[in-house]
Amino acid sequence: MTHSSNIPELVNSLLQKMTLTQKLGQMSQVSGNGGTISDELAEQVRAGLVGSIINEVDTDIINELQRIALEETSLGIPLLIGRDVIHGFKTIFPIPLAQAASFSPDLVEQAAHISALEASKVGINWTFSPMVDVSRDPRWGRIAESFGEDPYLCSVFGQAMVNGYQGSSLSDAGAIAACAKHFAGYGASESGRDYASTNIPETELRNVYLRPFFAAHQAGVATFMTSFGDLNGVPASGNQWLLQTVLRDEWQYTGMVVSDWDSVKQLATHGFTENDEESAHAAITAGIDMEMSSATFRYHGPSLLADKRLDMTSIDQAVRKILHLKFKLGLFSNDTSGLFRPTPSEADFVTSASRSLAKKIAIESCVLLENKKQLLPLNKATLSNVAIIGPLADDGYEQLGTWIFDGEERHSITCLSALQQYLGDDVNIHLAKGLASTRSLESDLFDEAISCAKNADVALVFVGEESILSGEAHCRANIELPGLQNELIKALAQTGTPIVAVVMAGRPIIVENIVDHLDALMFAWHPGTMAGPAIVELLFGQATPSGRLPVTVPRHVGQIPLYYSQKHGGKPVNEDTYIHMNDVPVRAAQTSLGMVSAHLDVHYTARYPFGFGLNYTDVEYSDLALDKDSIGADDELTVSVKVKNTGKCEATETVQLYIRDRVGSVTRPIKELIGFRKTHLSPGEEKTISFVISSGDLKFYNIHMHHTAEKGVFDVWIGPHSASEISAQFSLS
Ligand code: NOJ
Repeated sequence: MTHSSNIPELVNSLLQKMTLTQKLGQMSQVSGNGGTISDELAEQVRAGLVGSIINEVDTDIINELQRIALEETSLGIPLLIGRDVIHGFKTIFPIPLAQAASFSPDLVEQAAHISALEASKVGINWTFSPMVDVSRDPRWGRIAESFGEDPYLCSVFGQAMVNGYQGSSLSDAGAIAACAKHFAGYGASESGRDYASTNIPETELRNVYLRPFFAAHQAGVATFMTSFGDLNGVPASGNQWLLQTVLRDEWQYTGMVVSDWDSVKQLATHGFTENDEESAHAAITAGIDMEMSSATFRYHGPSLLADKRLDMTSIDQAVRKILHLKFKLGLFSNDTSGLFRPTPSEADFVTSASRSLAKKIAIESCVLLENKKQLLPLNKATLSNVAIIGPLADDGYEQLGTWIFDGEERHSITCLSALQQYLGDDVNIHLAKGLASTRSLESDLFDEAISCAKNADVALVFVGEESILSGEAHCRANIELPGLQNELIKALAQTGTPIVAVVMAGRPIIVENIVDHLDALMFAWHPGTMAGPAIVELLFGQATPSGRLPVTVPRHVGQIPLYYSQKHGGKPVNEDTYIHMNDVPVRAAQTSLGMVSAHLDVHYTARYPFGFGLNYTDVEYSDLALDKDSIGADDELTVSVKVKNTGKCEATETVQLYIRDRVGSVTRPIKELIGFRKTHLSPGEEKTISFVISSGDLKFYNIHMHHTAEKGVFDVWIGPHSASEISAQFSLS
């Protein structure tokens, strides 16, 4: 057994024996061949040219690759086996955006733990997750992989995932190394187009985009991955300021940094370097330890050293971190738990425990947005005929979401099958797809769907986006329901049958054109393996909806970026000052009076604000109270509120705490989430919920780039979402 205190010594003694080729080999990650080993790959591993393999999940193949690395190389250094285990391995949990909607970090940690257990069964020891990129543009396909728009939420959920994957010790059976990605600013790509440039001022970068990465570092994340992006003119994989000044010098991060796929080679495509050799130089100098996919380090490292453009110290530093991780993972222990795996069986994956957790988290991820006349929850006893309509009602693949390399459709339980199971023979089911796919532009299936709806007491309509319409490089400029789904909903609504729309999508969908035609609306995101049972329990009131939006839902794509924590500005808009275009007289003279920051043609508010989500009951907030109205730098104050379930159903309320720093040397957001608590309330029950605020919660990077809390007045809100009104003040002196 390797003790962590011995690791530096072990690493050093190994390093002393290594040739330059072997060192550069450790710094290289190459792609597996997918269920086989080509002669070329075997030879590369044998020659010590490979430190890590990506994209191999066959246990026997992984064992064989490890065996070659261990037994047929002169130094016997085992391999890191990396994989994108993003929201589950075989048991697919809701997409990360949905997991954030659960506001339940404990569940997210448990899900990551199960994902690690399943992945480690085949020999994977490293996942490229969590993605902690703050995402304020729902056009960006990768918002699905994120925890949404808020740095605090991204930090909390990023930490939860890191803890879940890594457990208390990386060498424990079932623990795998996590990776905070994509460092940094990737989510702010222009117009939500993946891989486009990002331009983020340093205060914004530090106060928003870097925060979740720092949080992941504090949680002990083993690795970082750089972004594909060009950050303020310097691509992340060659960005010395980011990788050295911030990550290593300021944060004192000592773990390894891997590039994204080919992103070292792409430094030349960006126009940041002239060729592969310069890219290798720029990336190693900046602080990339391992190159994913491209092999510029291996090919050009020797000449860069020979020309004295790189010295051995920088190579050794990188290799040291890689070896250190391998020791920490227990890979050198050469037993089943440390390295070789027995061939797993079916029973190792998608167990009843993992299904039950997947259902729980899917339930908590769904956000109820409309429930007119309290249509939901439905009562089976009062229903004779139910219409089940829509392209996603019975699609076990599309409910899984983006980036599920290893999830299998055969494990999915769809909404249709769960409804059939629940409704049994007591209720007639009228089934129609309505559209061949979410993108279909053919209305030939409409008539059948309309007649189903006509004959039903309620129509459950499962719409949204197929999985491939979100995720990496799958961005959309129009984020309404694709295809003819809006038209389908309007046609169904004309029947007069109440319509419940369940939207499964990788992003918040703009519903402006359909919301008036709906009686109830639930965002289920892509809920994963257990979508069906989770949604049925919610629709029929066996579970209470408790998901809350981790992103703002705009009214119109032209409002993007629209997020709750925007700045106040000098000419803020409000209900009294907003003027819609229709109220502006024709030939009105230009005047500087009454001008505010808003669009003429779309109301300035969001359709649904960040943090919003309905219960099946009403929860009232009252008596917001502070125990002090002023604190000093070392003090704390307690803020509390009463929450009461005034309705007839159970509630799980997510009580949210926001502040505003009224005046800052750098202007501060109009609201910032600094805490939340999920609490159960029975009908009629009242609870007092308290939060402690310390000056640490008030800190930000100020004009001098100091992380500090500036003295002055703060507003504090506790409420059900980011647009709630109940507030108080305190000051920091
Ligand atoms: C590219 C993606 O940007 C990254 O998130 C992923 O981990 C790697 N490819 C490996 O598949």
